[in-house]
Amino acid sequence: MPEAIFSAEASSSEGGTMNRVNLRRKLAELEPLQMGSFPTPMQPLIRLSQWLAGPEIWIKRDDLDGLGGGGNKIRKLNFLLAEAIRQGADIVLTTGATQSNHARQTAAMAARLGMACRLVLQGDGPPPEASGNYLLDRLLGAEIRWTRGEDPMKAMEQEASDLREKGRTPFIIPYGGSNAMGIMGFVAAFREFIAQSAADGLPFDTIVIASSSGGTQAGLTLGAKALGWPGEIIGVSIADPKAILVERMVALANEGAELLGLDFRLHARDFHVSDAFLGGGYGVVGRLEREAIRTLARVEGIFVDPVYTGRALGGLMEMIRSGDLREAKRILFWHTGGIPAIYAHHRELLR
Ligand SMILES: Cc1ncc(COP(=O)(O)O)c(C=O)c1O
Repeated sequence: MPEAIFSAEASSSEGGTMNRVNLRRKLAELEPLQMGSFPTPMQPLIRLSQWLAGPEIWIKRDDLDGLGGGGNKIRKLNFLLAEAIRQGADIVLTTGATQSNHARQTAAMAARLGMACRLVLQGDGPPPEASGNYLLDRLLGAEIRWTRGEDPMKAMEQEASDLREKGRTPFIIPYGGSNAMGIMGFVAAFREFIAQSAADGLPFDTIVIASSSGGTQAGLTLGAKALGWPGEIIGVSIADPKAILVERMVALANEGAELLGLDFRLHARDFHVSDAFLGGGYGVVGRLEREAIRTLARVEGIFVDPVYTGRALGGLMEMIRSGDLREAKRILFWHTGGIPAIYAHHRELLR
C-alpha cells in the first residue's frame, strides 16, 4: 500500500501526469450538464471504524447527490446527456435489470430535461409487484419495454430504429452509462475528491467502491493516474470475475484517455479488483450484504443497498478483518447509491 498523501499532482503535463487545473479545463471542454448537488459530502464513519477496530474509514455520499433518489449515475449522465442534447435528441434509451439504479437515474435526469425516456429492461415483463427502482421508473414517467430474451443492446438499437422511422431523434446510453463520455463523470469526481481531501487536510491511501459495468472505477482510476495519485482504488466486483471486469475497465479507461487527449494509457496492473464477494451472483442477497446493511444502519444511521453498496461494504469489512488492508491508514468508502433496491429485497433483508 503506498504512503498516504494529500494529492500528488505534478505541476506540468510531463510524464503522464497533469495538474488539476489542466484536467478541469479538459473536462470543461466536454461541456457537461451541472445537474445534481456536488461536491457530495465526505464524512467520517467514526463508530464503524471503532466497531471494526481497523483503519479510519470515511464515506463519500454520492447517494446524496440529489436527483431522482441519487447515486453514481448522475455524474456520468451529466456528460452523456450533454452529448444527447448536442445531437438534438428528443428521447433517451437505456437498459438495465428490473431494479436498475442507472435506469431510474436516467429517467429522472430525462424528466428534469423535459426529454422522453425509454427503458429497455432485461426480463420477460413487469414484476408481480411494482417496487423499488421499478416503481420509481413508473412514477418518473419512463416508457418501459422488456428485452424478452433478446440482447439488450440489439433491443435498444431496434427501438431506436423504430423511433427514427417515426421522426424521433433517439440517443442510446449503454448499460451502466459506461462508455468514454460516461466515465468522464468519475474523472471529474476524482478531482472533486482530491480537492476535498486537500482542503480538509485528509490524506487517504485507499478508496473502496462497488464495480459492475466498471465505468465508475475506470473513471476514478483514470483521474488518479492523470493526477499522479499513488493510492489504491479497490473495486469490489458485483457480477463478474476479476479478469473480465479488468479487461472491460482497461478498454473504458483508454477510450476515456483518448477522449481527453491524454498521452498515457492504462494497463491491467493499474486496476485493483476483488471478486471474492460474488456470493450467489448478481442481485442474490446473502449474509455478507445483510450484515453490512444492518451494521452501517445500526452504528452510523446510513443505508447501503442489497446489490451494490451492501456487497462492497461487506467486502471492505471482510478485507479489514482478514488483514488484507492492514497497511491502509485512512480508507474512503465511496457510496454509489442504490437505496431504492432495499424495498424490492425486503424479504431477504429481514431473514
Ligand atoms: C448503486 C450502484 N453502485 C455501483 C454501481 C457500479 O457502477 P459501475 O456500473 O459504473 O461499475 C452501480 C451500477 O449500476 C450502482 O447502481
